[in-house]
Amino acid sequence: MHVLITGGCGFIGSHIAEYHMDKGDVVHLIDDLSTGNFDNVEQFKDRPNFRFNQVDILTWPELERTVAWADRIYHMAAVVGVYRVMAEPIKVLSTNIPGCERLLRAAANSGWKPRILIASSSEVYGQGQGQAFAETDNIIIESAAHYRWNYAISKIADEAFGLSYAQSAHLPITLIRFFNTVGPRQSGRYGMVLPRFVEQAVANQPLTVYGDGEQTRCFCDVRDTVQALDRLANSQESIQEIVNVGNDREISMNELAQMVKTMSNSKSEIVHIPYEEAYGEVFLDIQRRKPNLEKFYRLTGYHHQWSLEATITDLIELARRKIKQS
Ligand SMILES: NC(=O)c1ccc[n+]([C@@H]2O[C@H](COP(=O)([O-])OP(=O)(O)OC[C@H]3O[C@@H](n4cnc5c(N)ncnc54)[C@H](O)[C@@H]3O)[C@@H](O)[C@H]2O)c1
Repeated sequence: MHVLITGGCGFIGSHIAEYHMDKGDVVHLIDDLSTGNFDNVEQFKDRPNFRFNQVDILTWPELERTVAWADRIYHMAAVVGVYRVMAEPIKVLSTNIPGCERLLRAAANSGWKPRILIASSSEVYGQGQGQAFAETDNIIIESAAHYRWNYAISKIADEAFGLSYAQSAHLPITLIRFFNTVGPRQSGRYGMVLPRFVEQAVANQPLTVYGDGEQTRCFCDVRDTVQALDRLANSQESIQEIVNVGNDREISMNELAQMVKTMSNSKSEIVHIPYEEAYGEVFLDIQRRKPNLEKFYRLTGYHHQWSLEATITDLIELARRKIKQS
């Protein structure tokens, strides 16, 4: 199979690449390396079934030809991470929306129907109503307009494009609402919480919890994520559907910080810092973010292999090894 991964040097993209490389598929990555890192896929660079172009999805002239080559496309390229969203609110919109549309237009023009998975996000649920978020929930964007929601708006637009191209151009597209995904190669630099806690704990620096720390999240190991994505791509039933992808074990940021501290035997203290200090301005956080996974289980039949403890153990080990090597 020929697999195209946009944003393929990023965190999730590089794991999708690894999964398909291991299966012997021909894998083509495109990435502008804005947040991604070629180190994530360096290990594959000499294999005959690996291709890479450092290009911007918005302008790359070869996009149409490459899309026409692919049997399956994972569209992961996006401006991601709370810090980048707050620092570059226009770029979030002007990359994420036209990037997705350009890819879908290329697929529609190719005369060929590659299977397409598009990365959306649990951010589209906004504050929700406090329960586990289901794909059938209404999406409510805060009426207090603020560019903090630009990322969610860009992903809602991508979903709308995806559903419309599936309908009008009969492309086999699935929209993936990722919940917090964690694992090796994720960077803490752009606001992701678990890699930041692990880096701080192994360096015996204070673990910085934003706000009161009672906000909850559910973390899915990326190695579970990529297996589930493959199952979704192989399922006819998931075409023209939106699917939550994640894990539904809920944990508060205070509990997570304590868990990382204990598991790493760290001397770090846990400190709370206001959002204003963390992001340089007032930030409306989402208090509770838990997926309803009924549809996920029905469509994939998948059961997670990675517990949060196993992921954290792995990340601590990798962070210690990195310190030793530096
Ligand atoms: N990691 C999560 O928890 C999570 C949660 C929700 C949604 N998502 C979505 O999943 C996808 C992958 O996220 P990730 O965590 O791997 O982030 P990431 O930042 O590691 O990956 C995104 C990749 O896209 C690349 N990119 C950005 N703009 C580009 C452009 N114009 N042209 C080409 N490449 C470009 C970046 O360099 C990077 O490698 C994203 O679409 C993200 O919005 C991720």
